[in-house]
Amino acid sequence: MLSGLKSIAIGCIVLWASTANADTILVTGANRGIGLEFAKQYAAKGYKVIATARKPAEATELNALAKANKSVVVEALDVTDLAAIDALAAKYKGQPIDILVNNAGITGSPEKQRFGSIDYASFDDVMNTNVRGPLKMTEAFTEHLAASKQKKVVVVSSSEGSIAGVSSNRQPFYRASKAAVNMAMKNVSYSMKDKGIALALINPGPVDTDMMAAARGRMPLRTTELAVKELSAITEKLTIEQTATFFNFDGTTLPW
Ligand SMILES: NC(=O)c1ccc[n+]([C@@H]2O[C@H](COP(=O)([O-])OP(=O)(O)OC[C@H]3O[C@@H](n4cnc5c(N)ncnc54)[C@H](OP(=O)(O)O)[C@@H]3O)[C@@H](O)[C@H]2O)c1
Repeated sequence: MLSGLKSIAIGCIVLWASTANADTILVTGANRGIGLEFAKQYAAKGYKVIATARKPAEATELNALAKANKSVVVEALDVTDLAAIDALAAKYKGQPIDILVNNAGITGSPEKQRFGSIDYASFDDVMNTNVRGPLKMTEAFTEHLAASKQKKVVVVSSSEGSIAGVSSNRQPFYRASKAAVNMAMKNVSYSMKDKGIALALINPGPVDTDMMAAARGRMPLRTTELAVKELSAITEKLTIEQTATFFNFDGTTLPW
């Protein structure tokens, strides 16, 4: 029985053996949009990629990437499920994670955010996904990050979370969630700094994904390829002294 367990363990090591010295990135919401592009670009850079998706069976493009690239592993994860986050962290116990990308996010439907008929269950969904999710992910994976070479957390935030930029009532759930995730992560950055972990809150700008489908043709949207290149460039240069900076995609800082 014991030798059987050993061979299973050795099998896992063999799975990662081809990329033994590669750095590791974990991306949430990696089945489409910006998250999928993170998985693609970091796989191309030679990283081990732990790419999570709520419904891996339906993640056609991500599964194809994993099939073509042994360093990409697809894991099921809903970031609102705290127990599932703990289970994933336990599964990867002892595996250093160089970069955690808290990407998964939702806007919530505009009708449910209309003042006068606010749907508070929808508000909870947005907050649980966009705020509690990244907070819990970062907490659960702190030791994996601390054990890595790079020790970096990226939160895909939004300029919509800048209170200074608000001049009308638009998407209050989404805006509140991005302001809140900035605040939560700025707070915990002080605990992570002690462990040498740096954190960046980054606005990708308007990017052509499903989230921005309604804006297509109404405003210029940037490609996921360009957006992820820019986010990666900021991540690569990120230092511990810059931790919890609210970056725009061009590397400048945004007002809170
Ligand atoms: N696109 C932009 O212009 C823009 C601008 C500023 C900020 N952002 C931010 O960028 C991030 C990615 O957005 P996107 O544009 O790529 O949007 P997207 O194309 O709509 O993709 C969103 C991703 O998040 C996942 N997701 C949603 N809820 C989840 C949950 N509870 N657990 C796990 N995964 C979940 C989705 O999975 P499913 O497929 O299962 O739904 C999908 O993979 C978000 O945080 C968003 O706020 C985007």
